[in-house]
Amino acid sequence: MQVRKPDLLTQGDAIIWSRTPEVALFFNAMSAVIPYVEHYLNNVVDEVRADHSEGDPALRAMLGEFIRQETEHSKLHARFNKRLFDAGYGELKPLLRKISDELQSIRGRHSLAFNAAYCAGFENSATFSAAYLLGPGLPLFEGADPAGANLILWHVAEEFEHRAVCHEAFHAVSGSYFLRLWGLAYAFVHVNYSFKRAGDVIFRIHRQGMSRAQVKASKRRFRRFLLGQLGYMAPRMLQLLHPRFDPAKLEVPEAIHAALAHFAGPGPFAENYGDTAMKTARVA
Ligand SMILES: [Fe+2]
Ligand SMILES: [Fe+2]
Repeated sequence: MQVRKPDLLTQGDAIIWSRTPEVALFFNAMSAVIPYVEHYLNNVVDEVRADHSEGDPALRAMLGEFIRQETEHSKLHARFNKRLFDAGYGELKPLLRKISDELQSIRGRHSLAFNAAYCAGFENSATFSAAYLLGPGLPLFEGADPAGANLILWHVAEEFEHRAVCHEAFHAVSGSYFLRLWGLAYAFVHVNYSFKRAGDVIFRIHRQGMSRAQVKASKRRFRRFLLGQLGYMAPRMLQLLHPRFDPAKLEVPEAIHAALAHFAGPGPFAENYGDTAMKTARVA
């Protein structure tokens, strides 16, 4: 694991950065929510590090690296989100405060073990999303403006890299299979509901002034994109239900190795990595 600090936002400034607007709008909704989720993850992982990693320096170091990676994610998303708010999407702010309150309430009402299970569940799902976006999902980024696309592709590559951290943090606190599944289900519903609520605001603003036919076409494009992602992720996520599921054992796809090496480099990142990766794949 490595903490990368790529300067991604100076090259490109589009808010609707993908050729299919609904793709960018969906990820912008995610971007708006993600710093709050990451703050929550770091808060939980920090408590595990303080109280449950004594005598295991490797675990302690890994939890520290995780916190540093997530902190960098949050910082860049917050910078991107400021652009998003300034571009006419400031109506998201009350919803984001509500989501932040919900996460604080989950943290306060439940045990550390449950919170760690929530974190593991969220991170386990993010792993499969990363495998999709840096694999069969790459064409979604073709021809995209670099800043928005690179923000997502860098982020998901590191999500794959630190895929096992919260799972191990959970196991340092609790070995309960049923609690892990409960945390997974809870996180899956709560995080996706949060993304959906942010998406509802963003799409409502985006579709203002569109004709009925344009709205219909926009909804159709969004549905097609969601189904593509779901079709890849759903069957693979079934392995999360296995009592001995271990994300550390998932092989790192070559495309993710390549993305991690790319974003560790000095930059500047003037090209969208989706285009870079697809050109390389065509040449290979
Ligand atoms: Fe992250
Ligand atoms: Fe993460």
